[in-house]
Amino acid sequence: MQNINSYIQEHKNRFINELITLLKIPSISADSAYEKDVIKTADEIKKSLEKAGCDLVEICLTPGYPIVYGEKNVDPNLPTVLVYGHYDVQPPDPIDLWDSPPFEPVVKKTETHPEGAIFARGACDDKGQLYMHIKALEFMTKTNQLPCNVKFMIEGEEEVGSKSLSWFVERNQDKLANDVILISDTGMIAKDVPSITTGLRGLSYVEVEVTGPNRDLHSGLYGGAVANPINVLTKMIASLHDENNHITIPGFYDKVEVLSNEERKEMAKAPFSIDAYKKSLDIEAVYGEEGYTTNERNSIRPTLDVNGIWGGYTGEGAKTVIASKAYAKISMRLVPNQEWKEITQLFTNHFESIAPDGVTVRVTPHHGGQGYVTPVDSIGYQAASKAYKDTFGKTPIPQRSGGSIPIVSLFEKELKSKTILMGFGLDSDAIHSPNEHFGIWNYLKGIETIPLFYKYFTALNKKSK
Ligand code: BES
Ligand code: MN
Ligand code: MN
Repeated sequence: MQNINSYIQEHKNRFINELITLLKIPSISADSAYEKDVIKTADEIKKSLEKAGCDLVEICLTPGYPIVYGEKNVDPNLPTVLVYGHYDVQPPDPIDLWDSPPFEPVVKKTETHPEGAIFARGACDDKGQLYMHIKALEFMTKTNQLPCNVKFMIEGEEEVGSKSLSWFVERNQDKLANDVILISDTGMIAKDVPSITTGLRGLSYVEVEVTGPNRDLHSGLYGGAVANPINVLTKMIASLHDENNHITIPGFYDKVEVLSNEERKEMAKAPFSIDAYKKSLDIEAVYGEEGYTTNERNSIRPTLDVNGIWGGYTGEGAKTVIASKAYAKISMRLVPNQEWKEITQLFTNHFESIAPDGVTVRVTPHHGGQGYVTPVDSIGYQAASKAYKDTFGKTPIPQRSGGSIPIVSLFEKELKSKTILMGFGLDSDAIHSPNEHFGIWNYLKGIETIPLFYKYFTALNKKSK
């Protein structure tokens, strides 16, 4: 029977080229101008699942973008793994900062990836990582080594809040029944430090609008005599953190899970170099909530950040004007137990309450979702841990991530199963940024590790019965 390493060696170039083909389609879910491309990507995923050996693959229509569903059944008495991923990508902006066009993938060597990395929007998040699962399935079906049943559910709206997937999951509990959910849409610590993501943060994303006078005004004739919406907005935003970088919204921290000193000590054991961190970002100092380390600030603590701010004149040269309106987009990353809808309400109430006379404020909630934590003593975690141990030669470190995949908490609620987050990306892969890339080593390592998860999950499942 052919083993995975020889299969990868034999098919490696095809694996890379197939991914490159997929990366050429600009499946930007946020921008309706790309609607056809998003749908075309779903069709491509369908074809690749069929080729990889699924017995059934469907394009499931939803109120938004379609969900690609596939399955391969081995034996109803064996466990079922449900693989989730997303085929949509973030907008590539700012385009000027890309060294090569975002949808014309190129392979280049970097310091971290001397074997080469594929540069393209979606290379790591999440087309590359999702494609590892399709290739792992191909290996298992073509060589008759699929040890259990598998279902695939690949959506096209993750980057815009997974609305249609929520709709789909609520209506298809039986179809999606499974013993464990497997996702590769996170990262790992380093190529020689494998890790498994055990937590995700929740999210509340809002847009705010501050309106002052009923029209734009001459900044000489009116300046200083009326509230300037941009001045006011920036002052309001600045007041959302105190001098210790605590968030000032009343009630914001009420439900925040407090970790014990032991848990924090355990977390601090994960290898991390603050100097390398600063160097990788070209910053002289880190910044954040008083009393917490960098790794705590970006995983177990909630945060509030402006993601965009605009208003007034931003064109070339100078224009003396007081704008009538100012805007900002704000994200709050939440931790387990914080309810995202409640936080959105607390933000709205507070933001409205701090508006000075002379302006009106409007808060529009966008999307959000709950955080997630997964125990390390589950069969799924143990299976993943053994799989990494085999392919990396080291037991992976459990690590909470700062990112969000809001649909994961819904999976737990609706499908009653745990999610295992086997991410193979690196923080330096620049997801959501210009020059996003995915290391070929990481890509192939993922393909090598995934079949072992199936093997160990099936074996541990039998034992526990
Ligand atoms: N794959 C990311 C989330 C992620 C990346 C989690 C790295 C952990 C490590 C996902 O595609 C993403 O970008 N999620 C969004 C949330 C969504 C509602 C737009 C995020 O975290 O900003
Ligand atoms: Mn993703
Ligand atoms: Mn993303």
